[in-house]
Amino acid sequence: MTLLEQLEQQLKTICHQAFPDLPNFVPEIRRPTQTGIADFSSSAALMLFGQLSPTAKANFSTPTALAEFLKQQLEKIKLDSNSVFKNLEITVASPGFINFILPPAHYLQLLNSLKQTSKLLTQTTKPQKYLVEYSSPNIAKPFTVGHLRSTIIGQSIANLLKAAGHQVFRDNHVGDWGTQFGKQIYAIKTWGNETELDQSQNPAKELVTLYVKFHQAAETDSTLEDAARAWFQKLETGDPEARRLWQKCIDWSWKEFDRIYQKLEVTFTENKGRGYGESFFETQMAAVVAEIKAKKLLTSSQGAELVFFPNDQFPPLMITKKDGSSLYSTRDLATDKFRLSHYGKDVIIINEVGAEQQLYFQQLFALEQLLGWVKPNQRIHIKHGLIRFKTGKMSTRKGNVVWLDEVLTEAFARTQTIAGQRLIETELWKIALGAIKWNDLKRNCEQPISFDWNEVLRLEGNSGPYLQYAYTRCLSVLTQVKANQDLEILTWPETATDQDLNLLKKIIQYDESVMRATEHLAPHFVCTYLFELAQTFNSWYANHSVLKAPTPQLQNLRWQLVKLVARVLKEGLELLGIAVLEKM
Ligand code: ARG
Repeated sequence: MTLLEQLEQQLKTICHQAFPDLPNFVPEIRRPTQTGIADFSSSAALMLFGQLSPTAKANFSTPTALAEFLKQQLEKIKLDSNSVFKNLEITVASPGFINFILPPAHYLQLLNSLKQTSKLLTQTTKPQKYLVEYSSPNIAKPFTVGHLRSTIIGQSIANLLKAAGHQVFRDNHVGDWGTQFGKQIYAIKTWGNETELDQSQNPAKELVTLYVKFHQAAETDSTLEDAARAWFQKLETGDPEARRLWQKCIDWSWKEFDRIYQKLEVTFTENKGRGYGESFFETQMAAVVAEIKAKKLLTSSQGAELVFFPNDQFPPLMITKKDGSSLYSTRDLATDKFRLSHYGKDVIIINEVGAEQQLYFQQLFALEQLLGWVKPNQRIHIKHGLIRFKTGKMSTRKGNVVWLDEVLTEAFARTQTIAGQRLIETELWKIALGAIKWNDLKRNCEQPISFDWNEVLRLEGNSGPYLQYAYTRCLSVLTQVKANQDLEILTWPETATDQDLNLLKKIIQYDESVMRATEHLAPHFVCTYLFELAQTFNSWYANHSVLKAPTPQLQNLRWQLVKLVARVLKEGLELLGIAVLEKM
């Protein structure tokens, strides 16, 4: 139990003893958002005052008087026990707040214990199995900035769960199956050149050009769609030529995916690091369709098979097409069936996919519950908002897309312009990628992003480079003052300032911020915290010297503070998949 929870419990006992006619009253104690006066604060007296019976009210003229009374009761507990909050200072503030102030000694103790542990984060007491699926680009289509969002957010959610002590499987649901392969094969056969594609640096791009060409030609020639359908049918029935070209498309696309994942330092654990693509489930779909049918959830309509939801909660979900071929949904169902048997029926499955697929995932999850596969909280869709560039939403068919490659190259070029000649290429990439990743993670992921290069790379604002820069500042301080600084600090130095203490308090909040992010599967809580830490550090640094600290004790304390800030920044950024640099 945290100190705050213990306090809450004590206060609850006191309230219930003093006011037995209000047994359901639960006092809340919070950490004020503004750092400063109080470590914790409670509005219990204000809440309680409104609920008092007339007789009780006669004893307390104002909420402040009631707060004073509760304070006295708490003081008694402080006196007669050697409780954890014996050092706590309790004050009452108008119009009836109870404030709790922890002495520096409390924080000093935490500092000393942090120094000794290799783990800054609390480990879960209920480890669970999570399958986190992210990235999931499509073969022979562009790896878009939307897939990048999924990659970045998904990877950091997996990191958070892992850091808390859960068992995490990382999967990539690559789109490598579906009727579009009929079109793709037709296009390659008609206009493509395999040798050129083999030799190309970026064959995925050329496949998209072919795909676009197909759609343009199909507008005037209606036989093309039929020809494409025939190719897909061949693919489904195992025709060697169809299979060969399909496999080629996969190899060509992975040339690009491998490059991207390597650059982003993103990994997957499943299926030898490539994830189980949609095609892996091809042979498992028939059984799933049969199960849905057996459970009487399937309705035929003009040859297609659909699932209707009770009370029409959602529009019907199509499971097989008129021509009998499978759909995205069929493959997802087979995928989850596999996951539940492969990882265990209690595995929690998270899909990091754009918000535009929200309705689809609602339908999918509802169906999986109707089938009795999962409990309500076992399926989670983390939905990221769209990234908007000036060109608007992108569509593969018309070829109007923002390629990830272009964004990364641009990020690198801009970083180079800003950083000049001081840094080597690997360092520039760390900054460029840090900027892109931070921009994806710093806000609630459901919010759409309107992409602005100045915001992304701004050194003074809430940006990746700002955080990386704060880290390098820490390192430069640590190398300036090399003496024997790691001694245990036994008492809080008298010469220490409020800002010294505030910086320490901020450092201590790291664990809490990560716990919050993990609980909500929302990495932005870590970003918000790290940004505040970096700001607190920077303003502290502007008027506090480690080197010229007035006493050796204070120098020792400050050196240790800087060391911890560096450690938290590095570890926190790594959780987000962002690398730090030694210098900038
Ligand atoms: N490949 C899909 C797309 O690009 C995303 C797949 C998401 N995952 C899933 N299980 N449906 O839109």
